[in-house]
Amino acid sequence: MCGIVGYTGKRRAVFILLEALERLEYRGYDSSGVALLEGGQIFVDKKVGKIRELIKSLWGKELNATTGIGHTRWATHGGVCELNAHPHTDGEGRFALVHNGIIENYRELKEYLISRGVKYVSETDTEAIVHLISLNYEGDLLKAVLKVLPMLKGAYAFAVISSMEPNRIVGVRYGSPLVVGLGEGENFLASDIPALLPFTKKVIPLEDGEIADITPDGVSIYDFEGNLKVKESITVQWDLLSAEKGGFKHFMLKEIFEQPRVVADTIKGYISRDYELPFSLKDFRRIVITACGTSYHAGLIGKYWLERFVGIPVEVSYASELRYSDTPIGEGDLVIAISQSGETADTRFSALSAKEKGAVLLSIVNVMGSALSRESDYTLYTHAGPEIGVAATKTFTCQLAVLFSLAISAHPERENLINQLLKVPNLMEEVLSKAEGIKEVALNYSQRKNLLYLGRYLSYPVALEGALKLKEISYIHAEGYPAGEMKHGPIALIDQHMPVVVVAPRDRVYEKILSNIEEVLARKGIVISVGFEGDENLKKLSKDFIEIPQVAEELTPFLTVLPLQLFAYYIADYLGLDVDQPRNLAKTVTVE
Ligand code: AGP
Repeated sequence: MCGIVGYTGKRRAVFILLEALERLEYRGYDSSGVALLEGGQIFVDKKVGKIRELIKSLWGKELNATTGIGHTRWATHGGVCELNAHPHTDGEGRFALVHNGIIENYRELKEYLISRGVKYVSETDTEAIVHLISLNYEGDLLKAVLKVLPMLKGAYAFAVISSMEPNRIVGVRYGSPLVVGLGEGENFLASDIPALLPFTKKVIPLEDGEIADITPDGVSIYDFEGNLKVKESITVQWDLLSAEKGGFKHFMLKEIFEQPRVVADTIKGYISRDYELPFSLKDFRRIVITACGTSYHAGLIGKYWLERFVGIPVEVSYASELRYSDTPIGEGDLVIAISQSGETADTRFSALSAKEKGAVLLSIVNVMGSALSRESDYTLYTHAGPEIGVAATKTFTCQLAVLFSLAISAHPERENLINQLLKVPNLMEEVLSKAEGIKEVALNYSQRKNLLYLGRYLSYPVALEGALKLKEISYIHAEGYPAGEMKHGPIALIDQHMPVVVVAPRDRVYEKILSNIEEVLARKGIVISVGFEGDENLKKLSKDFIEIPQVAEELTPFLTVLPLQLFAYYIADYLGLDVDQPRNLAKTVTVE
């Protein structure tokens, strides 16, 4: 979604805001802007395009303000244009505001405001908030905000400044993330933690229904009734380096190569028994997994493992579907919500709805202090570190590590299975060491317009994930499909122009997948396969064969996904596309 930042302190705010915005750009990059508070005036500059357009516009201007707010936008309401870019003001230079989220009742609010003579200049929902604050201001910014909040419906995080109140920012969180950063004689606001890392590691992640009243000398937290709340700060373990590119051309490439280490880190957290959950999975009649995108694909793999090692039925749903379905959920069910960011609205709301119906909610998240981690009965963390690339890679394999550890946690063969799991990081290294060969294969397909990805059993969700990676960063259409389903229709798509990526490790369905490859070849399809080293069948049948080391059947997804991540990366990079910030996308979608 969008990224919002705020700074008040002793340094020139514009530099702090721009650096923080650059670290939030992966959340959305249609436009950006800043509002600076100086000498009782509010200076606003905003530009369409990436942050660099804003930097160019601000360059050389004498901007000494020590308080300000900033925004990078992923458009929801209103087109991508300067008028709709944030910050939005009251039009009289008294207030400026930046917002992430959606005000669902903004049309009624806009009509009300216009009826009160307000000049509403943009197409956004955000502008309604700043005008309401202006109308309700009676000398105290926090009080004006408190009056306005009951009028707003939807999910939002916003920060507002006033020309009448120097060195003060009021930030509000309700459904979209917002984190306070604590410094010495200076304090910060940001949509998420990586934006704060250059300045402080001491943070207070706000919870829904909380307000931060920020000055250089201190931060006060209130609830929506205006009651003061005592909140503990946390010290973030992530270091700045882990959020930098580390010499890689893109964050995504760095994160692909970080996987062996972060998967090993994640496994370490679960092979001892000190994370034990206070219940047995067998206590439940059923497990329902809810997630989106890549996290959904991890859930599909988790289903196979949980049903195999725990022996209870598992249902995996797209979160956006589950929430509005009539799926009976309640007492006796365990809901597992998987979300890298812990802020995805679809996942949160579907999980909370299930919890309200009596299910136990366990979440698997990567970001400490995220909404989902606080709203769940139990949280298992991946230890992937910050994932900056919009396309999820390392957080996917870390989700697998948590899901596998969870599935085997009470299995009689646990020790042996853990020993198998502990071999995975080195085997992942081995696959990644073949990156150059994978790049060569990938570039043969960079001009294609359509690809099919096929797999069976544990390789079916891997095929879905491989297709998603290609789609979201190269904009080439790719479809993942269960290989056994091809003969029921999609095989009509196969001809000599259709490359088909087949994920074919030697597992329980290996013979079946070979038959599916033969079916593709019989229609002159082009086969690119991923399989175990030395597999003569695949070598013979495939135009391109990407080899991975042998591994136990149940662990193949950790290895088979890697060539597909690299395949997508090298094609997108070759096409000169913006791998870390693909068009139309945002890293975290905090709206439904
Ligand atoms: C995957 O590469 C995408 N970035 C997207 O599908 C993502 O997995 C999805 O939006 C869910 O995000 P979450 O894990 O933070 O909930």
